[in-house]
Amino acid sequence: MINYKADRRQFLKYSSLGVAAVTFPQILLANNKIVKSYSNANFKADVELEFTAKSAFIQILNHGNKTKVQKFYAKVLKGDPNTLLQLKDNYLGPVINLQQGQKVRVFFNNQLGEPSIIHWHGLHVPERSDGHPMYAIQSGEQYIYEFEVLNRAGTNFYHSHTHGETGRQVYNGLSSMIKVTDEHEQKLELPSGQYDLPLVIQDRSFDTDNQLSYVSRMPQKMMGFLGEMILVNGKPNIEFSVKSRAYRFRALNGSNSRIYKLGWEDGTPMVVIATDGGLLEKPETRPYIMLAPAERVDLWLDFSGRKLGEELKLYSLPFEGTMPTMYGRMGMMRSSGIEQGSKFKIASFKITEKVSNSPKLPKRLATIIRFSEKNINNLNNIIPIGLSMRRMSPRLNGKSFSMDRVTKMEQVELGSHKKIKIFHEHDSGGRMGMMGGMMAMAHPIHLHGQQYQILSRHYQGSDEDAYATVKHGFIDNGWKDTVLVMPDEEIEIIKPFEDYKGFFLYHCHNLEHEDLGMMRQFYVG
Ligand code: C2O
Ligand code: CU
Ligand code: CU
Repeated sequence: MINYKADRRQFLKYSSLGVAAVTFPQILLANNKIVKSYSNANFKADVELEFTAKSAFIQILNHGNKTKVQKFYAKVLKGDPNTLLQLKDNYLGPVINLQQGQKVRVFFNNQLGEPSIIHWHGLHVPERSDGHPMYAIQSGEQYIYEFEVLNRAGTNFYHSHTHGETGRQVYNGLSSMIKVTDEHEQKLELPSGQYDLPLVIQDRSFDTDNQLSYVSRMPQKMMGFLGEMILVNGKPNIEFSVKSRAYRFRALNGSNSRIYKLGWEDGTPMVVIATDGGLLEKPETRPYIMLAPAERVDLWLDFSGRKLGEELKLYSLPFEGTMPTMYGRMGMMRSSGIEQGSKFKIASFKITEKVSNSPKLPKRLATIIRFSEKNINNLNNIIPIGLSMRRMSPRLNGKSFSMDRVTKMEQVELGSHKKIKIFHEHDSGGRMGMMGGMMAMAHPIHLHGQQYQILSRHYQGSDEDAYATVKHGFIDNGWKDTVLVMPDEEIEIIKPFEDYKGFFLYHCHNLEHEDLGMMRQFYVG
């Protein structure tokens, strides 16, 4: 085992407007390996995992060559071997199964030949274990994470978070799912085991040699990567064999920029039991569900009463209004991928076994204590997150990401609850103002740290017809960490900043936007 000493030196000198450069406590091991760690000898881990990121060749397409990817390999060093569910022959990393209250230590080895760091998207963990890009390690180094699982039961997402390279690295394969369970959820007896399945949806483009191709040029990058092919759980044309009973499918949009409108081909409504932050109070039935990059919904797919051999198709249904109005007029902005908002099949489900028993959909799933304006301490200075895409640069409050700066507004007191307003910034008048409006597009806005509640969503635009194609698909009354903000929408959220001090990012989860600098951070202190 590794011997390491915790270095308790303050590593960041925080001043009111900026921070000094990061200095890492690091340990040189006998074999010359550099380990970056804030490990605490008093942290008694229940589970220890070892992750290694490296290049690999995986058979993704059904014929022809294997595809070169970047992949997380992992093994359980301590704890329940079922903590990891390996996905065979896959570029996705293993699914991680955690329980509320568990203490987890992760040893992350970077063998990519380039810097990287893992972020546990959705988990509420200390800054040093959150995968902030300032902690990215070089190839050959190791990073040690330690955290306790505070989250309630739900579906989360882990992925590489290397500054400026997140889009490419995630695209190349560095991501997968985290499931968290808790005692409350276990009492509900929801479908489990083989009836509780991941549905990781991603889009990719392959060249004639079966190798991944990614967008690197402006202005396509500004619109985000849109692939030519849909993969589910790392495979094309997926078909699930199911029994005639209820399933829980955990849909995770692991795509860089693509938004899905999940719906059955035959018009059967969709039933959702959980969003980003876990179980809803009660199931929601909708004609379709909007799922933006990094969002999760746990779907209750009930095949009871379906005939043997019957096949159901899950689609992304057509929608409008998420791309800039400019986009349609400028062919040069289009990528070669499937157009955003067009209709395509995601997966099919074939009934291969008739069974007579099925779990029943619970009427109540959980209790969520709603925040109200009484819970916040910034009613008179609501924190703005203004979205803009001026001069080929997507920004937040007019600013690009800076690793070592926070503004006054971005400093929040530990333990506070803040009201935050997310909206599109348009200049009033002038040529650039018009451009600003025409460049507005939908942005999935993600805040690290603790999950938040959505207080309101208002559409203030005039294209009611376009908006009508998406508006019934937002599930806003659970806990969230990523919210899709449509053009001309204004969204208010309440976010708690409890438990951990430090730098917590917020950014657009259109990964091309994030890499282009549409990211900032809060300092909680
Ligand atoms: Cu899933 Cu900062 O990201
Ligand atoms: Cu995150
Ligand atoms: Cu964006």
